[in-house]
This record gives sequence, structure tokens and C-alpha cells, in this order.
Amino acid sequence: TFILGIEGTAWNLSAAIVTETEIIAEVTETYKPTAGGIHPREAAQHHAKYAASVIKRLLAEAKEKGVKPSDIDGIAFSQGPGLGPCLRTVATAARMLSISLGVPLIGVNHCIAHIEIGIWRTPATDPVVLYVSGANSQVISYMGGRYRVFGETLDIGLGNALDKFARGANLPHPGGPKIEAYAKNAKKYIHLPYVVKGMDLSFSGLSTAASEALKKAPIEDVCYSYQETAFAMVVEVAERALAHTGKKEVLLAGGVGANTRLREMLNDMCEARGAKFYVPEKRFMGDNGTMIAYTGLLMYKSGNTLSLEDSRVNPSYRTDDVKVTWIQEGKM
Ligand code: ATP
Ligand code: FE2
Repeated sequence: TFILGIEGTAWNLSAAIVTETEIIAEVTETYKPTAGGIHPREAAQHHAKYAASVIKRLLAEAKEKGVKPSDIDGIAFSQGPGLGPCLRTVATAARMLSISLGVPLIGVNHCIAHIEIGIWRTPATDPVVLYVSGANSQVISYMGGRYRVFGETLDIGLGNALDKFARGANLPHPGGPKIEAYAKNAKKYIHLPYVVKGMDLSFSGLSTAASEALKKAPIEDVCYSYQETAFAMVVEVAERALAHTGKKEVLLAGGVGANTRLREMLNDMCEARGAKFYVPEKRFMGDNGTMIAYTGLLMYKSGNTLSLEDSRVNPSYRTDDVKVTWIQEGKM
């Protein structure tokens, strides 16, 4: 089976062709905001501008590997969640491809794609997933036909919280890696608000308090304290999801997962609980076309395709809205 998938929920336009076992090709064009954060309309214009050339290059690369457009069995696209204008641009490109190749459309939930790629590219089989990216922060696990959200942010995603703080400190976007670098040279921990409510998280107060703290403390100490506090919060929720589900694996997903300190803290928690900790290769953690194509493939093989009429995008598409048709109960 060959599936072509297109990702474009936010800043990354990326398309890939995969089979059950192989990534045939992947081509990516990244939108870089000139100043500040992502402007949805600008990002969508970027995607519209590059869609045709990305697909063309993808098909050319596939051809070199002996894969022709007529071999493609379905077109997957990120249906949501994400920025409306970006989603609509990518969906339009996917519909055109689906019509011109005469193959079905597959509407992929972006968050679930982050999970499935991690399960594909690591030995994990049935993990508790900590998914921390720019816009999203969720602790997720499969149970009874759905990916259930055990805990999530009540306000902004961890990545956006880090980026917002970084912008206030005049650091360039994306802020996460800069904060990580400063944190390495810290001398002491300063107190910042730790907010876990039940199983849910809140980062906006923490981000504001960290910005305030910059007036009195060196940036290295603030970055370090921000990381320690925020990461302890997400690790706590992941640990409780492990305890609650009785599962034995933790999978890290999303762009914030690049952070070494976060990995170390999760690894320590897993060791203490006798659970395995898995992280996919970095290229599969941020937004990528391969994760959409691969999840599309799983969906396609379980008969989960879309008619054109049902292919409208959903900017607030939730992880637990999706009926998981591709996992057979009892076979995990
Ligand atoms: P989604 O649509 O799933 O919310 P996204 O479009 O925000 O994803 P990702 O690539 O998953 O994109 O995540 C980007 C975020 O990851 C940014 O907020 C960035 O600051 C953060 N990030 C990247 N590297 C690091 C790092 N080393 N430490 C902390 N955060 C990081
Ligand atoms: Fe993402």
C-alpha cells in the first residue's frame, strides 16, 4: 500500500509517501515568521505558494525509487486541530490530488499522527503518550477504541508558553531551544507557580511569573526554574496516567520532546516505576508529512476514508473525537 500524506496545521508544510514498512520520500517547506509568532494567514499563504512544488518534488523523488503516481492508493491530510487557514489550504491540495489520481481521501487527526509515528518508529506498542508541542499538551493513552486524553493543558500548550516567555525576553522564535541552552548555565532554582489541577495543566500563569522573575533574577536561573517547574508538572500527570492505566511504556511526542532535560526527567520517572521510556528520532517529533501519511495508511487499511463532502477541516478536532478503526482489541 502506498499513501501520500500532507501536513500543514501550522508552520510546516510537509508531504510524504509511505508504505507499511518504508518512507519512500518526504519533502518539507517551513514557514518562518519574519517577526514574533506565527501569523495564520501568512502561514496559509506560504503553504499555498509551495503546495504544488512540494508535491512535484515529492513525486519526482518517489519516481527515482520506482514509485509512480498511479501506485498511490490514497491521499491523507491533516484535518485538524490546527490553524483554520492553513488547514483549508492543505485540504484543498489533498482534494485536488484525490480527484486527479482517482483515489480516496483520508482525514487524519494531527495529534494522533504524532502518536502513531512514535509507535511506528520505536518499540512502543501500547504506551502512555506525553504529547507536548507548540499548541498542544496532552497525556494520552489508548483505551476501548479511542485515544483517551487523561490530562491536558487548560490554557496554552507548553511550547507556546515557552515561546511567549522567550519573546518577552527578546529571544528569537522558537524559544524552547534557547531556554534549554540558558538553563544549562543556571546557579539556582527560584520559586515559580506549579499548577496541576486534577490531571490537567496550566502554563500561562507560570509563563507570566517567569517573565516577572526576569526583573530580579538572571535569565539562566529563570529559564532553569521554568523548565524544572513545567516539566515536573507534565511528568507528574504522565506518572499518574501510568499508575491509573497500569501500562508499562511511556512515549514522548511533539516538538518540546526535543528537550534533553524533559527526557531525563521522564526517563527517571519510568525507571523508578519499572516502565520503558521511548522517544522517536527527532525528525519524527515535530510536525512532518510522514506521520500523516503513515496514520493515513493505518486508517486506509481499516476502511477509514472520507468522501469529498465530509472532508471539511476541523480546527478544534480533538484526539478523543476519533474512533480508532485500525487497532484490533486484544491484539496489542
Ligand atoms: P502542534 O501543531 O502539534 O501543536 P507545533 O506546530 O507547535 O505542533 P512542534 O514542532 O510539534 O510544532 O513544536 C514546536 C514547539 O517545540 C515550539 O514551541 C518550540 O519552542 C518547542 N521546542 C523545540 N525544541 C525545544 C527544546 N529543545 N526545548 C523545549 N521546547 C522546544
Ligand atoms: Fe504537531
